[in-house]
Amino acid sequence: MDRPLKESSGATATRYNRIAGIYDLSEYLVERLLYRRWRRRLWSLVTPGRGLEVGVGTGKNIPDHPSDSRITSIDMSPKMLKQARRQADRLGTPVELVEMDAEHLDFQDDTFDWAVASFVFCSVPNAVEGLRELDRVVKPGGPILLLEHVRIDRPLIGRLMDICNPPAVRVTGANINRRTVENAARSGLKIEAVEDLTPLGAFKLITARS
Ligand SMILES: C[S@@+](CC[C@H](N)C(=O)[O-])C[C@H]1O[C@@H](n2cnc3c(N)ncnc32)[C@H](O)[C@@H]1O
Repeated sequence: MDRPLKESSGATATRYNRIAGIYDLSEYLVERLLYRRWRRRLWSLVTPGRGLEVGVGTGKNIPDHPSDSRITSIDMSPKMLKQARRQADRLGTPVELVEMDAEHLDFQDDTFDWAVASFVFCSVPNAVEGLRELDRVVKPGGPILLLEHVRIDRPLIGRLMDICNPPAVRVTGANINRRTVENAARSGLKIEAVEDLTPLGAFKLITARS
């Protein structure tokens, strides 16, 4: 079971505010080599309708937003959202950007047809609570698609990730040892498919349903 660090949402927002200006640069290489391809695959699974993107960050997914969906993207870091606004304006993509905590979504039950998050539930302080909120705001049976890095399920590497996690969170805001598939199941989401994107299962594309 995941034992989340006792982190507050405020501390997470502060960390992402701090790194917002250098975030894209710090991920430049891995984005080009891996993430870009995975993002395309993630968004190819989205069907038309009203959608929610959680943890939009600097807006790296905005180029893949389908034009036949009406999308609301949220994030708790105002500075990450500012970068996302710039990205949306640069691309001329209509997206509603809102400052909001994934653990307390300000939407009615069953508002959305689908939800997407990429590399977010590693940093949401109480991931199960955030995933429960997705279950609540997405219509029953609607897809919830998660692209995530997770704890490697091998005794030695997994333990090493646990040991390195506290400093990693403090520097980057992200937990490197999250068990996001298990967290999704615990939140009540129905897991439909889990695709390993790399050896050792460090990166996963999770398809769940509300
Ligand atoms: C690692 S970044 C990923 C950003 C983007 N999804 C991407 O793929 O590049 C994680 C983002 O999740 C946001 N975040 C973390 N916890 C959150 C929460 N509880 N509610 C809303 N956003 C959150 C952070 O502010 C940050 O922008």
